[in-house]
Amino acid sequence: MAIVNSTSTNQAEYMARDEGASQGKAEPFFLAYPVYRLWRQMLDEIDLVRLDLPVRGLSPAHRGLKVCQLSDLHVDRDEDLERLERAVSRVNHERPALVFLTGDYFSEPPAMRRYLAPLARALARLSPAVAAFAIPGNHDNWCSFAPIAEQFAKAGIAPLRNQHRRISFDGHPLVVVGVDDLMTRRADPNGAFRGVRPHECTIVLAHNPDTALYLRHLRPGVVLSGHTHGGAIRFPLLGSPLRSILKLGPKYYAGLNRFEDFHVYTNRGLGTFCVRIRINCRPEVSSFTLTPFEPSTTATPA
Ligand SMILES: [Fe+2]
Repeated sequence: MAIVNSTSTNQAEYMARDEGASQGKAEPFFLAYPVYRLWRQMLDEIDLVRLDLPVRGLSPAHRGLKVCQLSDLHVDRDEDLERLERAVSRVNHERPALVFLTGDYFSEPPAMRRYLAPLARALARLSPAVAAFAIPGNHDNWCSFAPIAEQFAKAGIAPLRNQHRRISFDGHPLVVVGVDDLMTRRADPNGAFRGVRPHECTIVLAHNPDTALYLRHLRPGVVLSGHTHGGAIRFPLLGSPLRSILKLGPKYYAGLNRFEDFHVYTNRGLGTFCVRIRINCRPEVSSFTLTPFEPSTTATPA
């Protein structure tokens, strides 16, 4: 794709029309402009996915509670930060009680050093009614999650590394469990659940959907994940070539899926890693309405 760094009328018009366009992005040659525009739309236009989230053991008092999830921000460039800022606005518009961030905030240490402070400022604008929580992804452990956690805490976002927090809604507790990343061998589901009572309802944050395999015995209420970027590239009929990277099964690469007697939700993420491309797989803000789920049968994974 041919890209130059001069201002063009077409580009100025495009930036005026599309809130996803951002200042400072490289511009295409005139003939390549339609391709460039399509490419930018696929990277920048965010889907707001609203759905009922079945949570095993959810108290009737928590039915209808609104929670939002962002994942795989990969803030490596100015455009990723701009996309995140728009995602934060979308989240705030949903007026959630809780916000969950499920890892991979940067791809590499240089990006973390450059964008950590701006990222924290952007996330400080989140305005959940009750609380926001964040867990590490594999990239965060490769970068170092400690400085990220420190900045998140200053921004009012509670980092969870194999830890849980109990939140009371009108006297009815709900437990948020944050499991560290599986790929980087930091996941300790038993440690994260230590102190959670058997009857308590849990919302589990785990970057990699495969973590469900290692915490199924802890009877999670639901698992919220990311990591796969929804497959990033989805071909008609064939789906994504990344569908088979999970041990859990190919269908868990995106969306809501049942695993045994609980559900796993896989968010498509906001950013990209390595190859800056998405096809039929736009960035996602998830907006869930909690609903009770009481399985009558035990389903087996694909
Ligand atoms: Fe990841």
